[in-house]
Amino acid sequence: MAKVKTTFFCQNCGAQYSKWQGQCTSCKEWNTIAEEIIQKAEKSTWKSGPTSSHRASKPLKISEITQEKEVRLDTKNLELNRVLGGGLVPGSLTLLGGEPGIGKSTLMLQVALSLPYKTLYVSGEESAQQIKMRAERIRPDSDRCFILTETKTQNIFRNIQEIDPDIVVIDSIQTLHTDYIESSAGSISQIRECATELIKFAKETATPVILIGHITKDGNIAGPKILEHMVDTVLQFEGDRNHVYRILRAHKNRFGSTNELGIYEMQGNGLREVMNPSEVLLSKNEERLSGTAIAATLEGIRPLMIEIQALVSSAVYGTPQRSATGYNAKRLNMILAVLEKRAGFKLAAKDVFLNITGGISVDDPAIDLAVIAAVLSSNVDIPVDKGLCLAAEIGLAGEVRPVTKIEQRISEAEKLGFQSIVISKYCKLSKEDFGIEVIKVGKVQDVVKHLFG
Ligand code: TYD
Ligand code: MG
Repeated sequence: MAKVKTTFFCQNCGAQYSKWQGQCTSCKEWNTIAEEIIQKAEKSTWKSGPTSSHRASKPLKISEITQEKEVRLDTKNLELNRVLGGGLVPGSLTLLGGEPGIGKSTLMLQVALSLPYKTLYVSGEESAQQIKMRAERIRPDSDRCFILTETKTQNIFRNIQEIDPDIVVIDSIQTLHTDYIESSAGSISQIRECATELIKFAKETATPVILIGHITKDGNIAGPKILEHMVDTVLQFEGDRNHVYRILRAHKNRFGSTNELGIYEMQGNGLREVMNPSEVLLSKNEERLSGTAIAATLEGIRPLMIEIQALVSSAVYGTPQRSATGYNAKRLNMILAVLEKRAGFKLAAKDVFLNITGGISVDDPAIDLAVIAAVLSSNVDIPVDKGLCLAAEIGLAGEVRPVTKIEQRISEAEKLGFQSIVISKYCKLSKEDFGIEVIKVGKVQDVVKHLFG
C-alpha cells in the first residue's frame, strides 16, 4: 500500500511545513500548525460508505428483481430531455462531445442555471468571471447553481462533499487531473482515472454527472475510446459553427433510444430550443427556384421537413465534380448513376453540387427522391412545385421504394401546409384519404413525368 502523504499547514497564515513545530516561523503564532493529508493512500478519492464497497452481490432470477419506479431528473430543457430518453437518470454518467466553439459549455451552463436542483458546474477551462459573463447573457438569476473552477479531482470531491449537489457538470474531462497519476492532464491515463473516480462517485451517490469532452479532428471523443464504454450515455453536439442551428444526438444511450434528436438555435442570449424544426429548416422564399426540393424525413420519431438544394452545371474540367454537404457523397453518385441509366439523363459530364440547408446532415434514405427532384430541377432549370414534398428511397433498378412511418411523414407535410406528397406506390397506408394529395409512383421515370411533364 502506498504511503499516506501528509504535510503541515499553519491554520493562521497557511504556511507549509514538512514537520510539526510549536510556533509558525512565518506569522509567529503559537500552536497553529496542524497536519493535513494531501494525498490519500487508497486509490480512489471518492470515499465509499461502509455498505457500498462491501455489498456482495448474489445472482437473482429476473422475476425476483424488484424494479423501482424509474425516476428521472427533468433538465427543464425539452430537447435535452428527449435526447436523453426522458431526463437524467440518477447515478448516470453522460458524456457530451462536440467540436470546440460549438456551444457545449453554453448548453450545459444554460441547463445548470435553469435546473430546479442544486447543481455544481465545475470548469477547468474558464475562470469564474468568464462563466459569470456567459451566465449574464443566458440567465443571470439562479441561486442553485454553484460554479467551481478547479481541475484536481481530489479538490472537486472535497467541494462536492461540502455542498452535496444533485447534479454535477464537468467542463471538461480533458482538463481534470488526479494526484495518483503522474502524467499531464488530458493524457489517456489521466482521463481514464478521473472518469473512473467520477463513475464511482456517481454510482454510489446516485448523482447524475455530465462530462463535457472535446472531440478530435476526425470527430471522435478525444482520449481513450474506453471513455465511451465507461459512460452510460454519449451525446454529440454537432452543427456548422457558421450556421445558427445545432443538433444534439445520442450516440449511445443505456436508458433510451439513440435515434432521437434535439435542435437548438444559437442566439445572442444562449441556445434556444427549436420546437418546430421543419418551419425553420425550410427557407421562406416566396419565389420558386429551380434546384430545390423538400424531403419529408424522420429523425428518430420526429418528422422533419428539410430542403435540398442542387446545382447542376457543365463541367469545366475533364472530370466532373460531385460534392454533397449533409448527404452521403457515395449515395449521390449512386443516384446520379440511376438517373443516367434508368431515366436517360446525361449527367456524366456535369458538375453536381448538393446541399442540405440549415447545416444539418441526414442519413434517412427517404430523402433520395427529393435529391433526384432537386438534381433534375436544376438540370432542366424548372422549379419543383412549392407545395410538393417527397419521401421515398430509390433502388438501383430505378424503383421507388417505400420508407418507414410514411403516415407520420404525410401528416407532418399536411400540418405544414403542403398540397401534395410523392411517395412509393408500394407503401401500405391504413387509410386512403388525407388532407393532402398523395401521389404514388413506382419508377423514377414516373417521378420525372409527374414533376416536369
Ligand atoms: P461554447 O459554449 O464556448 O463552445 P464549446 O464549449 O463547445 O467550446 O460556445 C461558444 C460559441 O457560442 C461562441 O462562438 C459564441 C457563441 N455564443 C452565442 O452565440 N451566444 C451566447 O449567448 C453564448 C453564451 C455563446
Ligand atoms: Mg467550452
